[in-house]
Amino acid sequence: MRRRRVLAPLLLAWPCALLALVGCDEFTAPPPRVGAAIPLRPDGKTLLAQAAKNGDTLFLRLRFPAEQGTRQQYFHFTGGAWRIEGGGFREVEASLDQDPQRGPTDLHSARAETALAVAITAPTAPGGVPQFARFGCFLACHDRSSFMPNWRPTDGRVPMHLFPGFGGFVDVWSWGAVRTAPAGVADDLFLDESGLAADSGAAPSTDLALDASGNPPLAFDPAATGGAFARPFAAILTSDPFLFAAPSLAGVAGTAPPIPFAVAVAQGYHPAEDDAVPAQLVSRPDGSRADVAARATWDAGTWDLHLTRALATTDATHDVQLGGDGPFSVAFALYSENADGRDHYVSLPIALVAGGTPQPGTIAIAIVTVDGSGAAAPPDFTDEARFPPTEVPIFLPGITSQEFLVGAITTRDGAARLVDWTHGGQHAVASGSAACADCHAVRPTDIPPARAAGALERLVIRRGGIYDPTPLFEGAP
Ligand code: HEC
Repeated sequence: MRRRRVLAPLLLAWPCALLALVGCDEFTAPPPRVGAAIPLRPDGKTLLAQAAKNGDTLFLRLRFPAEQGTRQQYFHFTGGAWRIEGGGFREVEASLDQDPQRGPTDLHSARAETALAVAITAPTAPGGVPQFARFGCFLACHDRSSFMPNWRPTDGRVPMHLFPGFGGFVDVWSWGAVRTAPAGVADDLFLDESGLAADSGAAPSTDLALDASGNPPLAFDPAATGGAFARPFAAILTSDPFLFAAPSLAGVAGTAPPIPFAVAVAQGYHPAEDDAVPAQLVSRPDGSRADVAARATWDAGTWDLHLTRALATTDATHDVQLGGDGPFSVAFALYSENADGRDHYVSLPIALVAGGTPQPGTIAIAIVTVDGSGAAAPPDFTDEARFPPTEVPIFLPGITSQEFLVGAITTRDGAARLVDWTHGGQHAVASGSAACADCHAVRPTDIPPARAAGALERLVIRRGGIYDPTPLFEGAP
């Protein structure tokens, strides 16, 4: 029933008009879309970046258009049982279609936080990733990663990881409106050949799961909520409190303290239809994981995120050291509108220029040097003459995997060829002789580079995968 109801509008939403710039006959037509969850989203967005440093601290201000996204997953009591609400739209689509080949089958609604990840490396420093300055996060996007064409559910979660041989680590600062904002940090992670991992120290949040008897592990402490152990599902989506906070974050806006569910029951709690409790517990991180401070506000469709980190940290094997003149290279990923898997926006890598001024004609963020030291006196980024914002175009990459980019795609289990396999720049990418930006602009309106091979925002449509079901293969393993 559901399929029939949604298929017609979804097919209408995939007209050749979308592909007008590249031509409809250039690639295999996408398979029909199923499920209700994959939303059409803008092809591209623009992020504004400013940077400054004083004697010992780096300040980064990032403004980006996105929904507020301060809700994630909840436990919802309905029909006599608790179930999980929320998740990325691709996983929810698998649940709607009850298709275990494409993901979990127990989700009921799409709701995922807005998140922004910053990836930074010093490409020529020990531990840096030399090719990052040319290819950025595309070095870590693989055909066998979750939701990609050569992924199978039996593989489990396969996160992004650096292509073997590219070595080193990329420092990753991952800010999330639910999972890190309450603690005032971006989660300090790093990406290497084994994948994405966290620096040492306590995490800013913990995802909760239903226990063996089907109950959430926590309920609200009625002493802090005027007697409520849970909140009506609709209310938790629209008002405070909507998150559990550990004692270390007591009093943070939007949160209330939890008690163990069993204690709530002992105190007389009987779940009522439509009760809801959060599926995350936020807490104060520590150690190296808490290195990146974050402060963010949302207004009229734009997040304004300020990140602060010491130029030098104690963990030089997982943190980029920013004291010198670089070169540094940075790239951004934006998760918005309930995106997960391959569906987040990306930027190309751009230079973060600490010494001197950026090369004219290239997209680069200048780190303006200011007096003083410490994180307590941030620069006045509203002075845009002194701290000029750099426009960073971001786009939906679809299934632009490293294997595709270097011409090394293989089939698996006799999978059909559903997407374009040939990359015009494969020899240059495989040999590292040219950067993405040497051949591609991002937006059709950008000034094309010398070897003008087309604007990525449009070309990715040809590669497919932006609105196609996942994992985009025919036949089960
Ligand atoms: C040496 C030049 C060159 C480099 C470097 C290069 N490309 Fe390309 N790319 C091309 C050409 C040529 C095409 C084909 C354009 C056409 O047919 O209109 C292409 C096509 C594409 C397409 C469209 C998909 C398809 O099926 O053709 C994508 C996506 C793409 N490139 C992404 C990238 C990314 C990401 C990078 C960096 C990791 C990159 N390219 C680096 C030259 C290059």
